Formats: sequence, C-alpha cells, structure tokens
Amino acid sequence: MVRVAVIAGDGIGPEVVGAGMRVLEAAKEADSSVELDFTDFPWGCEYYLEHGRMMPEDGLETLKGFDAIYLGAVGWPTVPDHVSLWGLLLPIRRGFDQYVNLRPARLLRGVRSPLSDPGTLDITVVRENTEGEYSDAGGRMYRGTPHEMAVQESIFTRRGVERVVRYAYELAGERRGLLVGATKSNGISITMPFFDEIFREVGDEFPDVEASLMHADALAAQIVLRPQSFDVIVGSNLLGDLLSEITAAVSGSIGIAPSANLDPDRRFPSLFEPIHGSAPDIAGQGVANPSGAIWAAALLLEHVGHAEAGRRILDALETTISDGTRTRDLGGAATTDEMTDAVIRELLGGDPGGP
Ligand code: NAI
Ligand code: MG
Repeated sequence: MVRVAVIAGDGIGPEVVGAGMRVLEAAKEADSSVELDFTDFPWGCEYYLEHGRMMPEDGLETLKGFDAIYLGAVGWPTVPDHVSLWGLLLPIRRGFDQYVNLRPARLLRGVRSPLSDPGTLDITVVRENTEGEYSDAGGRMYRGTPHEMAVQESIFTRRGVERVVRYAYELAGERRGLLVGATKSNGISITMPFFDEIFREVGDEFPDVEASLMHADALAAQIVLRPQSFDVIVGSNLLGDLLSEITAAVSGSIGIAPSANLDPDRRFPSLFEPIHGSAPDIAGQGVANPSGAIWAAALLLEHVGHAEAGRRILDALETTISDGTRTRDLGGAATTDEMTDAVIRELLGGDPGGP
C-alpha cells in the first residue's frame, strides 16, 4: 500500500487536487495492482491565519511516514508570499532533501503553443532544489538610512552540484541523450565556474550523453527560438526556476505543467505538484485547468513504481485535450469537473463510469 499525504493548499489548489485524486482513484480501478491510501492535511494560508504557522511544528515529522506528498498550491493574498513559501514548501523541499526539482514540459496533442512553429517540444528541466541562490545566508543593515543594504549569499557545494548534475546525465541517457547545463559563468564568476567544472567532471562518466554548457540568457532565447533542439536542461535553483517557467510557457498553458520535488535516494517522501500557484483570480469558479495536477499525479505513480499506470493517465489526458474537452485557458469551455470526467472516461476505456 502506497501512503500519500495530500496537501491541497489554497485557492484553486483543492479544486485541482480533487480532480487529480479522482483520476488516481480511476487509475486504481483500471489497475488493481495500484494501491493508494490518501491522508488529507489542511495546511496552508487559512491554517496560518488561525495558528500563526503554515503547518504544525511537527509537520515534517508527520509527513515522514508517507511514501509521497501530493500538493495543490500554497499562497493567498492575505499572507505574504515569502511567508507561505518559507513556511511550507521550502521546509519540505529542504527537510526531505528533495534535491531534484523535475519539470517536464511537452507540447501535448491539441494544445496550442504561443510559438508559431514549436515543432516537437519535449524538454525536461532538472532544477537544483536545496541550495544555490535560494539561501537564507545574509541579512539587512542600516534599515531606513541612506546606507541601507542587503546581502544574500549563494551556496554551491560540491555534493549539491554533483548529485543534481549526475541525475540530469542519467535522465538524458534514458531520453534522447542531450544535456545542456545552464550557467552564467561570465557574470557570476565564482560559483558558476565551480558549477561548470563539476558539470564537465561528472560528464566524463557519461560518454554517451552529448553535453554542453550555455549561458542562461542565451539559453532562454534559444528555448524560444528552437525548442526542438533541447532534451534535458540542468540548472541551479534560480536559473532552473526561470528556465522551467519558459519551457512551461512555450508548451502551452501554465495550467498544464507538473513538477516533482524528488529525493532520488528515497530516504524521504518526494512531493508532486502542478507548477502553477493558487490563482486567486479564478479560485472558487470551478474553471481551473486540472491538467497540471493530473500530470503531477502521473509522475507520483511513476515514482512509487507504477510507471505504466502513470503513462496511461498522461495518455488519457492528452487524448482528452486533443478531442476538444478543454478548460478556458486552453481555449475551451469545459469546467474543471467536465475535463476531469473526460479524462476518467478515457482512462477507463470509454466506460462512462459506475454509479
Ligand atoms: P498563479 O500560477 O497562481 O497564476 C498566474 C496566472 O495563471 C493567473 O492568471 C491564473 O489564473 C492562471 N492560472 C494558474 N493556474 C491555472 C490553472 N490551473 N488553470 C487556469 N489558469 C491558471 O501565479 P501567481 O498569480 O503569481 O500566484 C498566486 C499565488 O500562488 C501566490 O500567493 C504565489 O505565491 C502562489 N504560488 C504558489 C506556488 C506553489 O504552491 N508551488 C507556485 C506559484 C505561485
Ligand atoms: Mg517559479
């Protein structure tokens, strides 16, 4: 039995996670070897307003007992974004040493890219997820004076870079064998050359992977200009964040792309989520695109040993979209529920579903 902790979170989080869970239930129905057990945790901004924290003090301890975490989105206008992020998501990423943030972007059949000629677009960004530019080493001084200043140090460790880069080489080896390391060693002249050095060193272990380094600014432009030429891209926490937002954008709607926060060493539960946030502008209307959460559910299944069931979910999602059942952001008129129903019908082989 695979135990899944569910943190639906804020805004459209519960709407899309509800959709994803219905699809997972259908996956169980379609394949009896898939055994999942869900436990809900009502953590997020509402919880914060009531308790003064995003999750209980022993939240991580509680989550530790699970095999995977399924998350909607956290963040709401009543709580500053850095509070919600540092109070829930970042402690989980770091506490569970989820050092790989995997962000697949693929142009699904039936989805229109904002690019006029995207070709086949299938790029996975591997973002370092525990160190780099997202550090709390630093501080502010002389507040409120003309000398006010802020310093925030980037942290790059040999272990941290090596392990994420190795993961990316391995992934590229299983895919089309192309890897680009995102760097900025021309401007950021200490940490980035260190990253580059390790990228090349680890590359010696993978002679079959065609690897190169590109400056992230030029790389950003190339993703827009010729997305077909990329397979796997690996980058630091900040560069990976920015680049994966671009790969998600060129592959359609922000409502589609998923993200996995992985501890590849499996000492801790990994976390699966759509890349989008809580979308306060459309929350409560029942029109959110459930695709990102459904794709994230497929990644979750893959991680817990049901790759085939995960692939079937993604197939069903792709067929649903190309057959024309789409939410507003994809140019359609379907509600979240209608689109989810269609995916489930597809998954269960056209069966309209039991009572
Ligand atoms: P957002 O992703 O929530 O929304 C950006 C735009 O995309 C909005 O117009 C929204 O309506 C649209 N959108 C997003 N998801 C959609 C979906 N599934 N279907 C249709 N349209 C969708 O980003 P924003 O507005 O910057 O952030 C809102 C809140 O979410 C903030 O509090 C932020 O901190 C939080 N956030 C949380 C994340 C997480 O939990 N991992 C990630 C990103 C933002
Ligand atoms: Mg982002």
